[in-house]
Amino acid sequence: MKNRTGVYPGSFDPLTNGHLDIIRRASKLFDKLIVAVLVNSSKKPFFSMEERAEMIRKCTKDLKNVEVEIFSGLLVDFVNEKKAQAIVKGLRAVSDYEYELQMAMLNKHIDKNIETIFLMADIENSFLSSSIVKEVATGGGNIAGLVPDEIIDDITTKLSKNNKKK
Ligand code: PNS
Repeated sequence: MKNRTGVYPGSFDPLTNGHLDIIRRASKLFDKLIVAVLVNSSKKPFFSMEERAEMIRKCTKDLKNVEVEIFSGLLVDFVNEKKAQAIVKGLRAVSDYEYELQMAMLNKHIDKNIETIFLMADIENSFLSSSIVKEVATGGGNIAGLVPDEIIDDITTKLSKNNKKK
């Protein structure tokens, strides 16, 4: 099969080093990898979808087969619109498994042709999450090593603007 496309979906609020590691590794498995910034209705995002997509674009400039898109509908509709073969998700720990299994099964129930492929997070990133990044940054801590260097300023600037508003 030629031109295999994978979709790596998520909230990416913001992108972490864990996400970037999955993007790099998944980009080697597909001809094209689309990182899709989607709506998770159970989360209240801090960054706008465009801000999140822009931060991902900044950090994936060197990956020529990676594209970043925003989509507000169902993941399966996006996957079909892009004629992609698979959804890629990262698993950090057993605790991720139950939720991810449910999502993968739901997506397969909606469209039986869509496969979900899981990549295990690197052990170094297994504690990382976007929520932890926001918590450290909000508390004035150093987020170097948690997120790509290119977006540290974007995150801290937005947080300090937000803190001034309060
Ligand atoms: O990074 P997250 O928040 O764990 O990613 C979850 C996400 C955005 C991939 C999921 O909520 C999603 O697929 N949203 C799009 C809407 C959808 O298709 N929902 C039903 C399947 S979860």
